[in-house]
Amino acid sequence: MPSDDATRSTSSSLISSTATRAGGGQTAGNRFADSLAGPGHESDLSFQVEKSLLGCERSHGSLNLPQDALVRKTYVHRLHLDVSCFGMRLQDKVAIITGAGSGIGKATALVFADEGAKVVVVDCDAAGGERTVAEIERQGHVALFVRADISKETDAERLASETAKAFGGIDVLVNNAAIFVLKGFDATVSEWHQSLAVNVIGTVLVTKYVVDSMKKRGGGAVVNLASISSWIAQSDIFAYSATKAAVLQLTRNMAMDLAPWAIRVNCVCPGTIVTAAVQRYMEDRGLTVEQLNADEGAKTLLKRVGQPHEVARAILFLASDEASYITGTHLMVDGGYTAI
Ligand SMILES: NC(=O)c1ccc[n+]([C@@H]2O[C@H](COP(=O)([O-])OP(=O)(O)OC[C@H]3O[C@@H](n4cnc5c(N)ncnc54)[C@H](O)[C@@H]3O)[C@@H](O)[C@H]2O)c1
Repeated sequence: MPSDDATRSTSSSLISSTATRAGGGQTAGNRFADSLAGPGHESDLSFQVEKSLLGCERSHGSLNLPQDALVRKTYVHRLHLDVSCFGMRLQDKVAIITGAGSGIGKATALVFADEGAKVVVVDCDAAGGERTVAEIERQGHVALFVRADISKETDAERLASETAKAFGGIDVLVNNAAIFVLKGFDATVSEWHQSLAVNVIGTVLVTKYVVDSMKKRGGGAVVNLASISSWIAQSDIFAYSATKAAVLQLTRNMAMDLAPWAIRVNCVCPGTIVTAAVQRYMEDRGLTVEQLNADEGAKTLLKRVGQPHEVARAILFLASDEASYITGTHLMVDGGYTAI
């Protein structure tokens, strides 16, 4: 009989074949289950266990399949269900991620590719975007880089058409690209225009052209990057915070406007996450990571700042069919910052 660990994992965790993952592309959970059902596979098999659906801990183990044919069939059927529900959450989906050359966008691109998506990496920074694509391809997955400035309507339109041409359509859009005008009354009119042009209008432009393709596919999912700054007052950064509050409200309105086409629209609201943007903030103020944790981290329940992959996992959930009845809402990813 399966070990305790394996039994637990079939009911609540992800099981996938290490070999098929490593091979890249051949990762469908059902194929794994089929391989178990076939003759000559009664012995122990290596497998990988992801401890929780939203967690990222992984460990290796072995699975002793039951000898009795009927029990084995039932067991494999359960694997089918478990693996196909949770194994590859974006299997065969086409996902566009803006700002994927760095930080949260890059972490999301890597997680999405690992979950079976064909990933379109969008960034105005060609070097960053190409680095992300190279990393995804090294893992044996599929990615395409499209250089685009999301604040330009022609770029937004081209990005949607190039994706549709390369992959036949679009299922998921993550509106992640943004700039950080961390100023209040000292922001110039030109800085206000830039902040609004990228963070608000850019988000709308990309969504406008991408949803045409989603409508043709019969549905889709959009995940916007809002922030704790959408919700709370913070000193001297309202040229940024106002744009993130706009993204939160856009999320609700777009969810209403796109629901008739079965397109879900949600947002995540990260707290302080250690990315290039936050590193620039630290450099400007001469802060170390320890000081950042002592300052921003101390304001959270978990007493630390966050990492990009912790936001990527929340985005993955909202983008996947696991969130099929969730639209027009937000998910705080802030270590409890706004709970206090
Ligand atoms: N890092 C945080 O603490 C934090 C907290 C809350 C919300 N967020 C949100 O998360 C998202 C990602 O933030 P990050 O910290 O990873 O930022 P980042 O600066 O590390 O990455 C942003 C990426 O967007 C790209 N980009 C900027 N303007 C663009 C444009 N006009 N067209 C195309 N690409 C463009 C950049 O080149 C960069 O690669 C943003 O929407 C941000 O508001 C971040």
